Amino acid sequence: ANPSLLILAGDGIGPEVMDQVKRVIAWFGDKRDLSFDVSEDLVGGAAYDAHGTPLHDDTMARALEVDAVLLGAVGGPKYDDLDFSVKPERGLLRLRKEMDLFSNLRPAQCFDALADFSSLKKDIVAGLDIMIVRELTSGVYFGEPRGIFEEGNERVGINTQRYTEGEIDRVARSAFELARRRSSKVCSMEKANVMESGILWREVVQKVRDADYPDIELSHMYADNGAMQLVRAPKQFDVILTDNLFGDILSDCAAMLTGSLGMLPSASLGAPTGDGPPRALYEPVHGSAPDIAGQGKANPIACILSFAMALRYSFDQGEEATRVETAIEKVLADGARTADLMGEDGGTPVTTTQMGDAILAALDQS
Ligand code: NAI
Ligand code: MG
Repeated sequence: ANPSLLILAGDGIGPEVMDQVKRVIAWFGDKRDLSFDVSEDLVGGAAYDAHGTPLHDDTMARALEVDAVLLGAVGGPKYDDLDFSVKPERGLLRLRKEMDLFSNLRPAQCFDALADFSSLKKDIVAGLDIMIVRELTSGVYFGEPRGIFEEGNERVGINTQRYTEGEIDRVARSAFELARRRSSKVCSMEKANVMESGILWREVVQKVRDADYPDIELSHMYADNGAMQLVRAPKQFDVILTDNLFGDILSDCAAMLTGSLGMLPSASLGAPTGDGPPRALYEPVHGSAPDIAGQGKANPIACILSFAMALRYSFDQGEEATRVETAIEKVLADGARTADLMGEDGGTPVTTTQMGDAILAALDQS
């Protein structure tokens, strides 16, 4: 059977960028004899409009069956006043929770043609290709006790940084597996100097490496120094493994080393299902961009790169993933730019569809 893919385009520019991904998927069927069993459904505001819920139970069930889910974006001003329980974001949160996607992969890759776009000097970022693995389902965003409590005559806000050995173990394995597909180098970041959870994190990560991944070159770094090193000399890293809170901050920081939100893909992985690949959801980092929705201005590259990640991590098609990335590199080198990739002086931007045309043409030549 063909590998199965559930497409949830969502709201705003989600469907616009996903249209270009669908063309790339069709190209693989036509030209590379690589076909997918694609189903499509609603998520977010679009699902709310149709069903009164941001994720229908049938969609959730389908997401648990398929080899991978590809999501566009959810949300928009139309839904801002909805009750919290049916807000578009809740659809995405439910997917992440029920698929138990504990490992969030955020690449920071610098396409040479865009190196001038970085906020850093060109030689610091040119050729940059690193991956941050962020624990996504535990830590201080979820730990109990949490809340705002009365204490004496004032209130106190409390969150708890909490990690079990099992939670650290599984995300460490996911980072080591990933590293084996790259340079086999992992740097784990925590604050073991001041946090007990950090001490345990460092200990468990080292133990997993020593027991089952002796081929991995593992180093440890305090997360604050890590932030500094990311901006000073990011190319010293390959895979960075870190917890939910530090990963949130470090991945946003790393993302901006390379320029536009319209270029950034992501993957969220769960536990392997039997002998198969892990549960997986792929999505661009950006949101539904209501300010440009419906105008043909959206950059489809983040979503297409998310599909490339699916090719590599869910469908074991690393070479085909590289084919897509190389086509994008070529299109950028040839000068095609959506509006978000243009400086002040500008030129004429290409539309979402024209960017798709250019990428398909580059694939044809590959
Ligand atoms: P956003 O990422 O949608 O947009 C931020 C800025 O980047 C905007 O100026 C937008 O035009 C631009 N931008 C984003 N993606 C782009 C692309 N592919 N091409 C060109 N320009 C792009 O974040 P914002 O404005 O904070 O949120 C808008 C809506 O999206 C909100 O409802 C928010 O809740 C939702 N959102 C959804 C996410 C998701 O589905 N995972 C993630 C972040 C926000
Ligand atoms: Mg963030």
